[in-house]
Amino acid sequence: MSSLKKCFHGGAFFDAVGNDFSSLDKRSEIINGDVLDAWFPPAPEILKVLGTHLDWIIRTSPPTDCDGFVRTVAHHRGVGEENILPGAGSSDLMFLALTQWLTPHSRVLLLDPTYGEYEHLLTNVIGCRVERLTCHRSQLFSPSLEDLNKALAREYDFCILVNPNSPTGCHIGRETLECVFEDAPSSTTIWVDETYVEYVGSEHSLEKFAVQRPNVVISKSMSKSYGLSGVRVAYLCAHAERIAQLRKYSPPWVVSLPGQIAGVLALQETSYYKQRYMETKKLREELVAGLLDLQRMEIIPSVANFVLCMLDPQGPSAATVVQECRKDNLYLRDTKLMGTTLGNHALRIAVKDGPTNQKMLTILARVLAK
Ligand SMILES: Cc1ncc(COP(=O)(O)O)c(C=O)c1O
Repeated sequence: MSSLKKCFHGGAFFDAVGNDFSSLDKRSEIINGDVLDAWFPPAPEILKVLGTHLDWIIRTSPPTDCDGFVRTVAHHRGVGEENILPGAGSSDLMFLALTQWLTPHSRVLLLDPTYGEYEHLLTNVIGCRVERLTCHRSQLFSPSLEDLNKALAREYDFCILVNPNSPTGCHIGRETLECVFEDAPSSTTIWVDETYVEYVGSEHSLEKFAVQRPNVVISKSMSKSYGLSGVRVAYLCAHAERIAQLRKYSPPWVVSLPGQIAGVLALQETSYYKQRYMETKKLREELVAGLLDLQRMEIIPSVANFVLCMLDPQGPSAATVVQECRKDNLYLRDTKLMGTTLGNHALRIAVKDGPTNQKMLTILARVLAK
């Protein structure tokens, strides 16, 4: 193991399931509300095709350059094939692109709070000069557009916006962001991470905008909104020249065969996923109502498949709640390390199906009443 500190992520539930996979049945006893995997299964067609051909799929080398996957993404997103770079999850693409484009001299703007892997990659791995745009609780952790405009005017080399953001669930609309980017210095590359945007609607994606602008790059994970976290499939969407420059560093067979097949089919199963996103909204609202019944807490309005709860400062800290919930096999996320403004009482909870949300509420009721 390298001595480089890794970014802290959810996923502690795998300690309980067993990360040598010898006791996978235990997964049914555990609620992994600490990671933001979809609560719904991948589209039935994906399961059918993978199930029917599983033996062949596992032992067969996938198309070398993911050509069919790239063609499908381009078709469904209304962009060119030359605008798409596939990757084994967006984590793969983040590490590929940012280590190519940035150096220790690069000045980078990052939201605070935001997804922790960016801070880790920029600071600990590349060693960039990172400045944070603070999102305040009084503004429900949504960056003010005035602050964003002002910050971009400072001519950073690179700016990263997770939209919708994690752990807050806040979202800035497409048209607003396009206006902000029009005014931003063309010397600043802007990376928009749209891991959770499908939950708002794919029409909110900036993919079509990005392909016309040499300084805008969109990172599209397919993990959390298509139920595909385990097969590792994602893509970048950007101006053709940027993609061509990165493509040389992308290895052959970068996305597994199950990943390529699932990615293609997921993009075709539009109505299945639309339905799931509508259900997610309803489940999120029910979960929020249930949480508000438990304690005098504030819940940051979210558009995604998770909510950020600002627990009562007089009650137990998020760390204590996380620890206590684990005793009942419920894994949640203390978000303290994801930003400087969140404090000790910020707890992120993934939205699950109805019965699982009820179980989470029952466990939390017990823990918060202690
Ligand atoms: C905002 C954000 N970006 C990127 C990722 C990485 O996702 P993946 O590598 O599965 O595409 C995550 C995972 O939690 C995330 O929350």
